[in-house]
Amino acid sequence: MNTSIWRKKPIDKLLAEKEASKLRRSLGSVDLVALGIGAIIGTGIFVLTGVAAAQYAGPALILSFVVSGIAAALAALTYAELAAMIPVAGSAYTYAYASLGEFAAWIVGWNIILEYLVAAAAVAIGWSAYFGELLHSIGILLPAALTRSPLAGGMINLPAVLIALLIAGLVTAGTRESTTVNKVVVVVKLSVVLLFIILGVRYVNPANWHPFFPYGYAGIMHGAAIIFFAYIGFDAVATAAEETRRPQRDLPVGIIGSLAICTVLYIAVTVVLTGLVPYTQLNVASPVATALLKAGITWAGGLVAVGALAGITSVLLVVIYAQTRVFYAMSRDGLLPPVLSRVHPRLKTPYVNTLLVGLTVALLAGFIPIDIIAQLANIGTLTAFIVVAIGVLVLRKTNPEAPRPFRVPLSPYLPLLSIAFSGYLILSLPHLTWIRFAVWMALGTVTYFLYSYWRSDLAPQGQRLKWRFFAPPAAKPRRIK
Ligand code: ALA
Repeated sequence: MNTSIWRKKPIDKLLAEKEASKLRRSLGSVDLVALGIGAIIGTGIFVLTGVAAAQYAGPALILSFVVSGIAAALAALTYAELAAMIPVAGSAYTYAYASLGEFAAWIVGWNIILEYLVAAAAVAIGWSAYFGELLHSIGILLPAALTRSPLAGGMINLPAVLIALLIAGLVTAGTRESTTVNKVVVVVKLSVVLLFIILGVRYVNPANWHPFFPYGYAGIMHGAAIIFFAYIGFDAVATAAEETRRPQRDLPVGIIGSLAICTVLYIAVTVVLTGLVPYTQLNVASPVATALLKAGITWAGGLVAVGALAGITSVLLVVIYAQTRVFYAMSRDGLLPPVLSRVHPRLKTPYVNTLLVGLTVALLAGFIPIDIIAQLANIGTLTAFIVVAIGVLVLRKTNPEAPRPFRVPLSPYLPLLSIAFSGYLILSLPHLTWIRFAVWMALGTVTYFLYSYWRSDLAPQGQRLKWRFFAPPAAKPRRIK
């Protein structure tokens, strides 16, 4: 117990809490790889590739995907080490708590809200766009007022709101149920991606790759910083730690396996996509389907659109799931209100938390335009990745003896390289995104000092009482047996 904002949570305490967790342990390595792919392949590849190729990188978007993929792979290795070592629901947030202390943990948790909750809203808006297109293709036209946020010229993005609520309901129903649905969807979207590659490769016209670097080197990096969104999600696997049967083995397999599969597919899709049509024609909401149509493979265009819709749905499912588990962990530690770690007696899921996440995602998706929120998700995620890599380095020094079922090879070089790559991608994002991010961080810092610092499980008793005047210490978060 101490009053420092750098107070740490001992790893053995974390592991003991995990043992006492009431969440149901039902997931194996195949479930986790599916969970990863479910979270990764979505709006990034199906939607953002088009704009990124047309406006930022041209055909060199292929290289942007390689750069972003390396950044994600380095981060995945650091995540895998910590996830196997400290397999608890809070993921990066908890790793920071054990290695760098409470304030760093809080900052990571606060960034994860950008990564999952805010990204989920962007993904729901992407879903709504594809849904609208699909209805349009069968002759049904939804009114603009009901498919756009007020700032984008409508009233509310209703399909986005409804899908967010629906998915939150599914996550509340139970982990087993949601991972089964996820697996079906993952099979559909993998089939669609493979179909695109196999069909499209025969129609590639190498002339479309000239010029290859229309926006130069800077274009590659801008493209990489935007398209990084496509890789977000592999780390969501780590949040399922407490529901995994053999986390030490299955978490590294799930994290690294899902990312490796997606990286290979992304690069292949981008090679085919930029080879099918000139990059200037890709500035559309559904570039993958559009490229097939323009190449004359019309029957496959619709099929790919359905697959994309399914794919984006599973991303929503996993990122909403991941957000609820991080809130669960933060609440269990006292940094967020106790109600967020209340587990439903029969469903065994943190239901109040899930409903709250669903409602917030729905509100954001309904009323805020996609561009503002999508880039915030990237900067939040990259910041969390940097802290995780620092965490690996610190724990290697402070807890050299702790069992590490998976070790990042070539430490400290690879974790340092991970920090460099993530930092460079942050620098390649637009300035306006940095400013929004700074505001978000300031809000987080104020919240920490007004609430979390005092209500933390690690806060000394007297300190909590002193604060009573402002924030009556109601029941402490119930201890999990
Ligand atoms: N990587 C996820 C997507 O592309 C967030 O939608």
